[in-house]
Amino acid sequence: MFNYHTKVLKASKESVKLAGELIRNGEIVGIPTETVYGLGGNALDPASSKKIYEAKGRPSDNPLIVHITDFSQVDELVSEVPDLAKKCAEIFCPGPLTMIMPKNDKIPYETSGGLDTVGIRIPSDKTARAIIQAAGVPVAAPSANLSGSPSPTEAIHVYNDMNGRIPLIIDGEHSAVGVESTVISFEKNGIRILRPGFISPEDLTEVTQNVIVDDGVIHMIDNNTKVSSPGMKYRHYSPKADVIIIDGSLENYNKFICEKADVDDWCMVFDGDVISVPNKVIYYGKNSTDQAVNLFSVLRQLDELGVKRAYARCPEKTGVGLAVYNRLLRAAAFQVIKV
Ligand code: TXA
Ligand code: MG
Repeated sequence: MFNYHTKVLKASKESVKLAGELIRNGEIVGIPTETVYGLGGNALDPASSKKIYEAKGRPSDNPLIVHITDFSQVDELVSEVPDLAKKCAEIFCPGPLTMIMPKNDKIPYETSGGLDTVGIRIPSDKTARAIIQAAGVPVAAPSANLSGSPSPTEAIHVYNDMNGRIPLIIDGEHSAVGVESTVISFEKNGIRILRPGFISPEDLTEVTQNVIVDDGVIHMIDNNTKVSSPGMKYRHYSPKADVIIIDGSLENYNKFICEKADVDDWCMVFDGDVISVPNKVIYYGKNSTDQAVNLFSVLRQLDELGVKRAYARCPEKTGVGLAVYNRLLRAAAFQVIKV
């Protein structure tokens, strides 16, 4: 069904121009952004959005985020801009923030996953911005992984998942943030966080004191519950390895591994953690910001190493740590052991 010869080109004036032309002509392209790599297509073209869903193997009720380069362009895509969205844009855009607003007729339902709303993001990454400008259209882009696998933070990750499925990937080096954007919606006088990211709940209190973290961020949603964001329903970011989060002090983590782990289980710990265990160890960063950058690469490495089970030290649950915790929880299918 897919028979592209997938090219990977370093970001340059020429490759950016080519990416823009392909997107304008209805193709989809792997593009770098500051959060994770995206699969970009013309957001106004229903056929392009269908291609994105096919390439990812993604359920078509999970909406795509629409990327633009300046907040002023939002008026062409939505029917109403909440005052809080304007304030957020002043402080956080361009940057790793997606704002959900009521869509207008220009956004096809194929792009919005059948919803009457659309998520708008204004990326800060230079190459992402240049590609959107070269395309001359708003760019719909989900993360460029196969549905269910960890998001790509390097061009090689995109290639491994998308080889043969898309014509072009632009290599813009490692994503600076490493986890996907913070997704928010607006309520009467408040902001609801549907997916945590680099812009934290604490950061958003600069706009309003009324910041709610949706229940789905750290709790498992059962199939019958109505969710605020379709992405919450799907098992995400899953490596093949069985990941289990161990929530407690380093000392108790060490004790748990010594007493409960099999010899071929792996330890996934913070840089600088000193543990005395016979198991193999992989490090995923010294602090939350660093862990956000590394998490998805480390999850992919576990698979490359053929790891069957990994016990991960629990990240912080505040600031950027909340985003790391949210992604790791999904990778772990919500398996957490308190020690
Ligand atoms: O950082 C990012 O946001 C990356 C880069 C490429 O920009 N994109 C990304 O897209 O992560 P995706 O499709 O992998 O994740 C988008 C999430 C999904 O969980 C989706 O359900 C939610 O945002 N979402 C998008 N539009 C929505 C809407 N209108 N209402 C509720 N949730 C929405
Ligand atoms: Mg995704």
